[in-house]
Amino acid sequence: MSVLEQLNQLRSEAEGEIVKASSQQEIDELWVRFFGRKAGELTTILRGVKDVPAEERPSVGKLANEVKAQIEELFKIQKERIYQDSLNERLASEKIDVTLPGVWNKPGRIHLLNATMRRIKEVFKGLGYSVVSGPEVETDYYNFEALNIPANHPSREMWDSFFLREGLLMRSQTSSNQIHVMEKQDPPVRIISPGKCYRRDSVDATHFWEFHQIEGLLVDEKVTFSDLKGTLELFAKGMFGSRRKTRFNPSYFPFTEPSAEVMVDCFVCEGKGCRVCKNSGWIEIMGSGMVHPHVLRNVGYDPEKYTGFAFGMGVERVAMLTYALDDIRVLFENDQRFLDQF
Ligand code: PHE
Repeated sequence: MSVLEQLNQLRSEAEGEIVKASSQQEIDELWVRFFGRKAGELTTILRGVKDVPAEERPSVGKLANEVKAQIEELFKIQKERIYQDSLNERLASEKIDVTLPGVWNKPGRIHLLNATMRRIKEVFKGLGYSVVSGPEVETDYYNFEALNIPANHPSREMWDSFFLREGLLMRSQTSSNQIHVMEKQDPPVRIISPGKCYRRDSVDATHFWEFHQIEGLLVDEKVTFSDLKGTLELFAKGMFGSRRKTRFNPSYFPFTEPSAEVMVDCFVCEGKGCRVCKNSGWIEIMGSGMVHPHVLRNVGYDPEKYTGFAFGMGVERVAMLTYALDDIRVLFENDQRFLDQF
């Protein structure tokens, strides 16, 4: 094949191949095929021009330059096309549709339990009580011993506790904070103490192994049972409405004497009897009593000089009554569909 023929054939091959290249890699490989310094097809032909007979050399040289320029031009066009294609592809795939609806973050809200605790706190703050907290991991002394509940005393059965290593336990009542507070200060004492408690209870509609209590304690000179009654009646009215009546039933707690269960008349049926009050017309809302002299003595208070009263209520129970819930577990499940209703 003459050099002229070779050039023409190469040109038509290049025309066919280059437009087919669809990636940067393919076009680079083609470039090496035609222009590679060692074995490029065009390079090889151009190298052979010097062997062409002298009289043909000008025309061969001219065609060689023409073909070279044409192929270079084809490369340039195809490279630009590949670049544009990949650019368009990226633009299409990375496109952001600003008209799509956004992701809506619901604003936070106060959980029923916290809302209930806040309301209880507000009522007592209005009566001049301050709010204190104490540890959730307790020693036997604060949770029991100092509260007049000796080891092996049958009353311990009232609190089925979770025990930890080395005499520690998860507090099973906030009454432990009575001791912490009185150890740190002299009378008068007037505090409430909200917090989480833990008991080994089987979970059912009204029991959960974790729950909240609010403890109350008032100690001063000449505090009597009437003060306890007056205070807790005020609380019941402040919390459940001014029409509520209260009743005090005798009860037993090792750290109070006498002790009383505080009842309010049922605000669902107005005392007529319903499912919530189990047809009794009354609902128990807390335990209470006059601080036992042993407890006062344990913290170094003189029971001849000082007297006081204490009370403790379950926040879940108050929340269930307030919001008419029939299962305590809904307060711990954090199901948005439930919480959104309040
Ligand atoms: N701590 C008691 C309980 O958990 C409640 C209580 C507190 C009773 C203070 C009397 C006085 O059941």
